[in-house]
Amino acid sequence: MKTNNNVTRRNFISTTGTALAGALLVNPLEGIPSKAGVAGPKKRVAIVGTGDRALGMWSKDVQLNYADKVEYVGLCDINPGRLEYFKKAAELNCPTFTDFEKMMKEIKPDTLIVTTVDATHHEFIIRGMELGADIITEKPMTTDEQKCEAILQTEKKTGKKVTVTFNYRYSPHRAKIYELLRSGAIGDLTSVDFHWYLDTRHGSDYFRRWHRLKEKGGTLWVHKSTHHFDLLNWWIESDPSEVYASGSLEFYGKNNSFRHTNCRPCPHKNSCNFYFDMTKNKKYMALYADHEKHDGYLRDGCVWKEDINIYDKMAATIKYANGVQVSYSLTTYSPYEGYRIAFNGTKGRIDAWIEESNPIDEKPYDEVVVTKNFGTREFIQVPQGSSGHGGGDRLLKDKIFGGVTEDPLNQSASVRDGALSILVGIAARKSCETGQPIKIGELTSIKPGSKRQFAG
Ligand SMILES: NC(=O)c1ccc[n+]([C@@H]2O[C@H](COP(=O)([O-])OP(=O)(O)OC[C@H]3O[C@@H](n4cnc5c(N)ncnc54)[C@H](O)[C@@H]3O)[C@@H](O)[C@H]2O)c1
Repeated sequence: MKTNNNVTRRNFISTTGTALAGALLVNPLEGIPSKAGVAGPKKRVAIVGTGDRALGMWSKDVQLNYADKVEYVGLCDINPGRLEYFKKAAELNCPTFTDFEKMMKEIKPDTLIVTTVDATHHEFIIRGMELGADIITEKPMTTDEQKCEAILQTEKKTGKKVTVTFNYRYSPHRAKIYELLRSGAIGDLTSVDFHWYLDTRHGSDYFRRWHRLKEKGGTLWVHKSTHHFDLLNWWIESDPSEVYASGSLEFYGKNNSFRHTNCRPCPHKNSCNFYFDMTKNKKYMALYADHEKHDGYLRDGCVWKEDINIYDKMAATIKYANGVQVSYSLTTYSPYEGYRIAFNGTKGRIDAWIEESNPIDEKPYDEVVVTKNFGTREFIQVPQGSSGHGGGDRLLKDKIFGGVTEDPLNQSASVRDGALSILVGIAARKSCETGQPIKIGELTSIKPGSKRQFAG
């Protein structure tokens, strides 16, 4: 039970309905083999963008857990200091490059992992395919519709494959929601209420470094909400067709009386709630601070910088080609982190209130509630996974590197999925800028269909 915010999980549930029909403990991914598959020749893999995500997700862990299937053959970054630290920290024994073309031409990897700044992804995805590699790219695939179209066309032209790593689809409770929706538990889905809260620690982090600039991360409509829009596209199993949105910057950035370049030398550190003592984080000091001299990258940048040009409060109405409509919002300075979601159907409703970081009420499961119209209520407790992002990171890697080919929940994400998730964000950004609803079908050659096309 959570007590700090005068709200309890039980209160939330009891406001929405009637009797407790049952509490089930289920893992929707049970039965899916981990790291199954037939051993073949090892994939020769290179990484471009040797920052935090590549270090935590795509390097040492992959080499250790999928050693029979993956061999790292090259690392590339524009920051030579970070590149060398990464190689050591990731315990990889392969050549390093600050010149991407040189790496691709000399090494000729089978697969290129793209983990650079969002607005540069397209350069590496496109050139990587042209030089013969399949691509695994971090979200968001890219940040505007022109770059998106160029990626779609290059994939067609080269016959190479782009996989977008949507780890959020793989969290067990989200998989359970997918199953419930497909099972007809609430009849035909008609609308979704989806509200995401980033807490003051995580939310503020997007205002410290490159994400704070629209030209680098495409705004949080693209950088962050791409995860949420991908979940919606997957759950609803239809394509988004139109977006109407609004957003503002009224908390971070210029909305404060004092500011500095970054936290370490800041004269306001004693009075700023957002002071971040990076010197206590050994990894950040070694990955970022020690190499600032090469590129001026400040990991502890001030959240009050006047150049911040992204929104910190966003809301959108999204229409789907199958008639489902969504009410979505993102808040970036909440006291706790998580989301509320409700799926309304012709026969009932699915609710979930997921708190992603709550040190006071840590529990080993997430809860999904199914309430039938004129009927009963069922509480379904879904065990959390132990790897990052609620267990999603491990399952995603099993799929990508472990030879797991089964995909009963259609979780694999194609280039089309990658495109449609960012196109919702791009449309929302355009709607904020123009005040008009934006049609997804007018942005690229992808024409929304009422039924999702699954990844091949
Ligand atoms: N799926 C998830 O949950 C998740 C989580 C975190 C980050 N990400 C994504 O991973 C990517 C990397 O994020 P991060 O937090 O590691 O950022 P980061 O800033 O730590 O790392 C980015 C790296 O790219 C390098 N770089 C930038 N431009 C380059 C260029 N032109 N050529 C070569 N290298 C270049 C930088 O020097 C840096 O080392 C982003 O796209 C981000 O959206 C995804």
